[in-house]
Amino acid sequence: MDFQLTETHMMIRDMARKFADEELAPSADVRDEREEFPAEQVRRMGELGMLGMMVSEKYEGAALDTLSYVLAEEEVSRVDASAGVIMSVNNSLVCWGLEQFGSDEQKDRYLADLATGRKLGAFALSEPEAGSDATNQRTTARRDGDGYVLNGTKNFITNGAHADVTLVMAATDREKGARGVSTFIVEKGTPGFAVAKKERKLGIRSSDTVSLAFQDCRVPAANRIGDEGFGMKFALKTLDGGRIGIAAQALGIAQASLDASIRYSKERKAFDKPIADLQGIQFKLAEMATDIQAARAMIWHAAWLKDQGQPYGPAAAMAKLMASRVAVHAALEAIQIHGGYGYIREYKVERFLRDAKITEIYEGTSEIQKIVIARSLLHE
Ligand code: CAA
Repeated sequence: MDFQLTETHMMIRDMARKFADEELAPSADVRDEREEFPAEQVRRMGELGMLGMMVSEKYEGAALDTLSYVLAEEEVSRVDASAGVIMSVNNSLVCWGLEQFGSDEQKDRYLADLATGRKLGAFALSEPEAGSDATNQRTTARRDGDGYVLNGTKNFITNGAHADVTLVMAATDREKGARGVSTFIVEKGTPGFAVAKKERKLGIRSSDTVSLAFQDCRVPAANRIGDEGFGMKFALKTLDGGRIGIAAQALGIAQASLDASIRYSKERKAFDKPIADLQGIQFKLAEMATDIQAARAMIWHAAWLKDQGQPYGPAAAMAKLMASRVAVHAALEAIQIHGGYGYIREYKVERFLRDAKITEIYEGTSEIQKIVIARSLLHE
């Protein structure tokens, strides 16, 4: 076993760090305050190859491994977790899903644009009544000649308002349950497809989260990914990888919380000395650093398994469960170390807490991760 990053890994991490520090950091707080989508920064991520990191060169991707992707995801999320989720969804839910399971024609048509950021992608699985219970899809896709007609509502869709291409799960046969769900590529501007509502959120406020309405929306049959009935497998397989990305996003938030706490505790004086000299603070820093290192090792391991072509679903679920918990705890501890200053907007750490919480909810709540993990223990 080798924990040494390669030259390429270090180069990718440094590139992402430089981008995050120079191009995300100056405006992250303002965008959070204004709930403003980082359109220019997303365009730059595309230019830098950060939106199609694992996509092959044939489709203008960066052709990197999953470890490179999680290194970059951590760096971006360390500075701006909103940019982190935009990046994660496009990379692991949209580009990866399309490259793995799309037809050659679908890949030729969409993948290069998505991998380079010329177009942005979204992944529409959740519905008002199908969150954790994802197989309970109410959105329907009725076959009609050489196409399908979609009706229904999706909600909590990251990138939804800005996406040019949305991968939509819908029931082609409700009686078949999970085996009656299919996936469709729906382009922005398709008649009958509209953004219904933009959500106002606790955190990741500069990423967009919307509900989508489908009303007699006609999609060509050529836009169905895989066979009819493959949609739930498509979604869950794709989410296995997505969870590694969200774990890396959580890790970035946790690392930012630790970095801010170290800086502040060296500057802030109490009882005639920097608070970093107090054991009460030192113990907090030591616990945070240990948790972060454990989460990072689990994320790298899940990424490594994926890169080796080995089963990685349960490892990804463990990494997300751990990293999201670590992120929330680290952000809370950062606020505690900052005292009253941690509670006010001027000192970023309150944003870290607001941004961290969602990592315990989306791409499968912590409870869902435990179900995935427990099933792997009991049924394999
Ligand atoms: N890979 C491939 N197939 C899988 C799979 C996996 N990891 N897990 C399950 N399946 C298959 C099953 O084999 C089954 O197929 P068969 O009937 O042919 O065997 C089918 O999928 C349904 O699986 P289950 O019977 O296990 O279904 P279930 O109803 O018991 O639920 C679940 C499974 C794990 C709870 C699942 O519903 C789940 O993961 N829920 C959480 C949903 C989620 O993560 N949503 C995230 C939304 S996207 C998002 O958040 C993006 C964002 O904004 C950032």
